[in-house]
Amino acid sequence: VAIEKGNYRHFMQKEIFEQPTVVAQTLHSYVRQVDQSVALPQIDFDLSKVQRITIVACGTSYYAGMVAKYWIEQFARLPVDIDVASEFRYRDPVLEPGGLALFISQSGETADTLAALRHCKAEGQTIAVVVNVPTSTMAREADLLLPTHAGPEIGVASTKAFTCQLAVLAALAARLAVLRGRMDRAEEMTVVKHLVETPACLNAALGHDEEIADMAHLIAPARDVLYLGRGPDFPLALEGALKLKEISYIHAEGYASGEMKHGPIALIDEAVPVIVLAPSGPLFEKTVSNMQEVRARGGKVVLISDAEGIAEAGEGCIATIEMPKVHPLIAPLVYAVPVQLLAYHVACVKGTDVDQPRNLAKSVTVE
Ligand code: G6P
Repeated sequence: VAIEKGNYRHFMQKEIFEQPTVVAQTLHSYVRQVDQSVALPQIDFDLSKVQRITIVACGTSYYAGMVAKYWIEQFARLPVDIDVASEFRYRDPVLEPGGLALFISQSGETADTLAALRHCKAEGQTIAVVVNVPTSTMAREADLLLPTHAGPEIGVASTKAFTCQLAVLAALAARLAVLRGRMDRAEEMTVVKHLVETPACLNAALGHDEEIADMAHLIAPARDVLYLGRGPDFPLALEGALKLKEISYIHAEGYASGEMKHGPIALIDEAVPVIVLAPSGPLFEKTVSNMQEVRARGGKVVLISDAEGIAEAGEGCIATIEMPKVHPLIAPLVYAVPVQLLAYHVACVKGTDVDQPRNLAKSVTVE
């Protein structure tokens, strides 16, 4: 069947708007409504015995893996190593017996990720994969297949595959936490409740589309853009910068908010918009002081936060985008939406080829 754009201008736009549906579809296989529990496909391998997880991926899938590291360590108290595949495969990593190696890939065919998978297999690791193409090579070579159900992704810049990966990884983190006795029934049920609410929160985030389209005119003239985030929202800052680079060709960098003073602050002036991703919470204050450092240098801040965060720190920003107030576990999924929309609309203002950006490929099957 040919995949059509329908009423959308670009596949990327269509895929951004499909997220509530495909994330719900994906979660359907990982959440059991009957007893409000998180479930993974059956394997003959005891996940509770895993001592260390090694995550390997490329591009946007790598950023999903970075979010997973925060979640798995925080909720399951299990150490996680993470690497981009092209580094991992040549650095002779230390892989202990009994380890789980987790590969994340939309296509299931990325050459470097596949080579890393085969290396881990040869080293005796159990292989788990989060893939979107169920017939792919990685899906076939896995011991534990964790499929995303995003449907075919046509836009070269990944969007819906990313949020579906995060949905699966959130379920995996919760399941590991349960198996390791780090999450009791009540907490598991709370997590399930929040996961089930995710599609509605994604819809709420999509409701800001027009506002973000207007804001894109403020960002489009910039030569450089900086994205800041903390904790699990730091990988989102990296993803936001990647999306903007990929499709609008504006130079962008993602940084951990607290690391800004160790370099990128030198770039800040009136011409550099700074996009801050900061749900309210225990670390919000720290991000507010980073925003003040930006403003003191004439920098223009766009704050993406919830009502509470915007009430506290929205003043003096050139723009704010209000996200629903969500559980920390699903914040990265929800905050993915405004960064995707911003990149999309900036690219539209600039008139670039959104679905086929120059020099990029949907799936990189050569080294
Ligand atoms: C390419 C694509 C990206 C994607 C990356 C990893 O660079 O343009 O959108 O994130 O490959 O691809 P994978 O299929 O392994 O997720």
